[in-house]
Amino acid sequence: MKVFITRKIPTVAKEILEKSGFSVNVFPHDRIITREELVKNAKDADGIIALLTEKYDKEMIDQLPNCKIIANYAVGFNNIDIEYAKSKNIIVTNTPDVLTDATAEVAAALVISCARRVPEAENLMRENKFKGWEPELLIGVQLTGKTIGIIGAGRIGQATAKRIKGFGCKVIYYNRTKKAEFEKDLSAQKVSLYKLMKTADIISIHLPLNTSTNKLLDKEKLELMKPNAIIVNTARGEIVDEKYLIKMLKSKRIFSAGFDVYENEPNVNPDLLKLKNVVIFPHIGSGTIETRNAMAELAAKNVNNVLKGKKPLTSVF
Ligand code: DGY
Repeated sequence: MKVFITRKIPTVAKEILEKSGFSVNVFPHDRIITREELVKNAKDADGIIALLTEKYDKEMIDQLPNCKIIANYAVGFNNIDIEYAKSKNIIVTNTPDVLTDATAEVAAALVISCARRVPEAENLMRENKFKGWEPELLIGVQLTGKTIGIIGAGRIGQATAKRIKGFGCKVIYYNRTKKAEFEKDLSAQKVSLYKLMKTADIISIHLPLNTSTNKLLDKEKLELMKPNAIIVNTARGEIVDEKYLIKMLKSKRIFSAGFDVYENEPNVNPDLLKLKNVVIFPHIGSGTIETRNAMAELAAKNVNNVLKGKKPLTSVF
């Protein structure tokens, strides 16, 4: 049986699959595969290890007649038409848990970078503009004593809260269901989205992207934020009305915003590149050696299980 891996990922994936007797083909170029190339390479594959930069819509799935599993190399799976895949008996898996800590670390990095203006401080030094200590140089926002609002208290949301709590912050969260253990461990308080937007000093987004979360943070909700608020997004860009947030940042309506994800990836709104009160990362949430290896291993094990007639480890349905 054939497995196609759409881009180079840690070799452990190929090793696991080859050891199991599969013929494995890895897309040889270090760039996003085009739709044409994907069809050409994957049309007779029994399993695919896929990336979030590829879209598996009806049209694509129809061109993958042999496919039994799409193992997404990500926890998010908004790039795949799940219902249609299911109707075609294709199992879809993702890589939860193994990337929780890495992503929470990036969310925390964005929070600190926004609050203490880390990129601006770095740039000032590199541009040789340091003239000695100044009373008003790059004044930031102190985290100690502030309130962090976690939107989506799943694994990554909770892990982020835990880290920011370490700075002496109070934790509030918005989630469909109550998270009793989280509340107990971090003295976290469940609130409405309205209350969170209105009272949190720092807001961190951790929701999956789907029809009910697309543009959840629209103009009205964003306008509820406090004047010195910081908002960071390590989930998916489409959850926020990015254009409106940029407008608010331009007019300094909030303190700053941190982005690891964007509405139209890989395109980044050029206004973001000009603003000083933003911190922008290139979607590196899960980007650690440990996590990427674990993601590759999990994706390969999912493919292996499904193609051997066993249950996948982390199916999304
Ligand atoms: C995911 O896994 O969904 C992340 O966005 C990838 O880093």
